[in-house]
Amino acid sequence: MAFRKVIFATAVLAIALSSPSVASKTKNAAVPPSPTHPPSPVYYVDIADLLDVAGPFQTFLNYLQKTNVIEIFQSQANTTKIGITIFVPRDSAFAALKKKNTLAGLITKGHLKSLLLYHAFRKFYSLTELSKLSRRNPVATFAGSKYTLNLTDDNGGIRVKSTWSNAKIVSCVYARAPVAVYEVDKVLLPMQIFSSQAALRTVCGWN
Ligand SMILES: *[C@@H]1O[C@H](CO)[C@@H](O)[C@H](O)[C@H]1NC(C)=O
Ligand SMILES: *[C@@H]1O[C@H](CO)[C@@H](O)[C@H](O)[C@H]1NC(C)=O
Repeated sequence: MAFRKVIFATAVLAIALSSPSVASKTKNAAVPPSPTHPPSPVYYVDIADLLDVAGPFQTFLNYLQKTNVIEIFQSQANTTKIGITIFVPRDSAFAALKKKNTLAGLITKGHLKSLLLYHAFRKFYSLTELSKLSRRNPVATFAGSKYTLNLTDDNGGIRVKSTWSNAKIVSCVYARAPVAVYEVDKVLLPMQIFSSQAALRTVCGWN
């Protein structure tokens, strides 16, 4: 599995970095290491590979790739020690929305990118840290400071709440700094996108 390979490659890298033979080679090299070379992340996780083998998260992954949000997520995971937390809905959660035609209008309005960015925090949070985060509600997402989510404790489980959706974390796909990926049972719907009465009716089934 690609995912296993990632962990294996990371382990090999860690060994290589700590190996004395590599260290002495670097020392004797005529060319000094380039100062512009970015520091290696502690663990490298390929988010697209991860979503591809876990899941089915194909709808979310396809949207990420179509909008290039995958690059934004990957670069956050790559270049910061702060990391990233992603909430990923299954294909069935998107299918439930599609039935009501909620996302069709989104794509033409160009809001899809914000919707995807709304599914992430610009920081790595373990499940324990997430449950503590409820004290700091509302929490800004990757989509911007106005696009917030509320974390709530629900009998030991954690809910990720927006005005129009109350999703639950149903499984931990991956959680090792700097990358956390949690499966949620619903697509998270930000108020900024779904603010019209028409959208409300479609999403919430209001009359
Ligand atoms: C993330 O890091 C990997 C491994 O160093 C690299 O191949 C990839 O291009 C990087 N992606 C981004 C978006 O920075
Ligand atoms: C989120 O939490 C804040 C602070 O407790 C509260 O004012 C707000 O109404 C909550 N929003 C939702 C959608 O639950």
